[in-house]
Amino acid sequence: KKISKFEINLKSKIKRKKMAQILDGLKISNEIKQEIKAEVDKIKASGKRIPHLSAILVGNNGASKAYVNSKVKDCAEVGFESSLYKFPSTASEAELLEKIEELNNDPNVDGFIVQLPLPKQMDQEKIIMAINPRKDVDGFHPENFGRMALEMDTFLPATPFGILTLLERYNIETKGKHCVIIGRSRIVGRPMSILMGRKDFPGNSTVTLTHSYTPHIEEFTKNADIVITALGDPHFLKGEMIKDGAVVIDVGITRVEDNTEKGYHLAGDVDFDSCAEKASWITPVPGGVGPMTRAMLMKNTLLAYKHTIYKD
Ligand code: GUN
Repeated sequence: KKISKFEINLKSKIKRKKMAQILDGLKISNEIKQEIKAEVDKIKASGKRIPHLSAILVGNNGASKAYVNSKVKDCAEVGFESSLYKFPSTASEAELLEKIEELNNDPNVDGFIVQLPLPKQMDQEKIIMAINPRKDVDGFHPENFGRMALEMDTFLPATPFGILTLLERYNIETKGKHCVIIGRSRIVGRPMSILMGRKDFPGNSTVTLTHSYTPHIEEFTKNADIVITALGDPHFLKGEMIKDGAVVIDVGITRVEDNTEKGYHLAGDVDFDSCAEKASWITPVPGGVGPMTRAMLMKNTLLAYKHTIYKD
């Protein structure tokens, strides 16, 4: 059969269709953990005390349990000591505050986290405010959040810190770009909106923070050079909602029930296949932002140990 010129043209066009490059969070997070481990090995060789991260877990949230177990595993991998304190979902605020006070005053604990979300009877802000900002390696304390907003040295929340580090290590241009963020949570969207606008690299972007009350989100994402989705709605962002060459960062990790042995799989906010056809760079789920978040908590713990943020 004779192939027409039209067909040849079409075939080469399809072949040339550009696919996005992958922002490989698994690879970069492994590099960061290696760097941390090398520092810990030196600390150990010199006979000094080893960095120690503690975690408080309240209740029975499956995702929270998995996250905390991962953090304990990461500590072992980089050579940190770790301790985990579990409370039942019926625990009182006072019990939790007592444990926080104990960790605040324990000279062997460099940093600790209270895994969120907390049960309804607890005042989340009150709990977070009880954490000594110098040990607040999640960067959730209002003092640290304020320092972040003012571009002072501080513990950056792990997920935003992970996204910045990905952009930095892949040398993605952010200066003068329009960055659209979907979601305004205290852990991701809101801090990210502040960080992308700061006078630094990565940063210097023009930032739009969209959320559940933003009508026609696609009118914003279509004009974005960088899209960061943190809303927890599987496959929300479709290829038709982004512009050619956009950088797409997927923070979603929603458990979607299926027939596998585990009973679920993790789904991102980004419809990967359609977005990868148009984006210049994209993070996969899993293997994108998730492992970066985990690595940056280790990094913050090392910074706490070394008094890099708070000098004394
Ligand atoms: N819940 C979801 N993400 C996080 C996190 O980074 N830190 C804590 N403490 N809780 C979370």
